[in-house]
Amino acid sequence: MKTPRAFYQPLAIGAPSPLREQPVRLERMIHFVPPHVEKMRAKVPDLIRSVDVVLGNLEDAIPADAKTDARRGFIKMAQDNDFGSAGLWTRINCLNSPWVLDDLMEIVTEVGDKLDVVMLPKVEGPWDIHYIDQLLAQLEARAGVSKPILVHAILETAEGVKNVEAIATASPRMHGMSLGPADLAASRGMKTTRVGGGHPDYTVLADAGEGAAARSAFQQDLWHYTVAKMVDACMSAGIKAFYGPFGDFSDPAACEAQFRNAFLMGCVGAWSLHPSQIGIAKRVFSPEPAEVSFALRILEAMPDGTGAVMIDGKMQDDATWKQAKVIVDLARIVAA
Ligand code: GLV
Ligand code: MG
Repeated sequence: MKTPRAFYQPLAIGAPSPLREQPVRLERMIHFVPPHVEKMRAKVPDLIRSVDVVLGNLEDAIPADAKTDARRGFIKMAQDNDFGSAGLWTRINCLNSPWVLDDLMEIVTEVGDKLDVVMLPKVEGPWDIHYIDQLLAQLEARAGVSKPILVHAILETAEGVKNVEAIATASPRMHGMSLGPADLAASRGMKTTRVGGGHPDYTVLADAGEGAAARSAFQQDLWHYTVAKMVDACMSAGIKAFYGPFGDFSDPAACEAQFRNAFLMGCVGAWSLHPSQIGIAKRVFSPEPAEVSFALRILEAMPDGTGAVMIDGKMQDDATWKQAKVIVDLARIVAA
């Protein structure tokens, strides 16, 4: 064990967020790796070149009898690779599981300096964030970790959705939040067996009569309400919102549609659980060139961001200037 640093200052609630002190990073896809599988670990050097974030998953989808191997595999994966500009995250087991203490103790002690973000599942309220915040502070101090490890909450219980605003502001360590549609569906008692995406029976309602059949053929987005609520909570707290997993790997069009809805609503990325979803996320969460060109025309037409001008018959003013800046700023980060 290293000597604790005498000058160590835990991150107090209300302290400046380390996230805001770092340059904005592209995190269009958080790519999940099962670290107990050697064949998957062997792909990490290639993955680092093609994804924004590599995440070693220790929670759901890792069998109970492989939890220790997954943790050790993650540590090895962290030690063996230089992640360059790609982020290194882990999804630890949930706070009331028998594995989480060892997950945090071993990982922070052995590779805490390489770890950017801990993804915490099944967050129910700010108390979960306070608990992990203090635990990380203790472990970072003990191991001499120099950069605070950030926390990313999965929003995947009805209780968590109820407390989303308090979760978003619970600690300066908060990096962001992902919607977890599979656990959330179960927690809410929704009648689906899907991991994210729509449902053919959740349609636009229509009265009998002309147009009704056509309208009721359109699905509604099952996740619209939660994504909107999460984006507002995150953006007002200065942290990032993400759509989570899409489980039907045989339907890339539906995956793209779900990711795009989330992007348009304000999310900055989504999870990729399969290599085929990396390209989808990269495409969706980068602004389209035509949109960027139009946004640039708005910025050029209103150099100081005030007033009103017409471009192609569309009114632009201070508010659309800000919209354009969101798109141009993202395009610049993508191009950098
Ligand atoms: C992700 O963890 C989910 O439950 O959807
Ligand atoms: Mg889950």
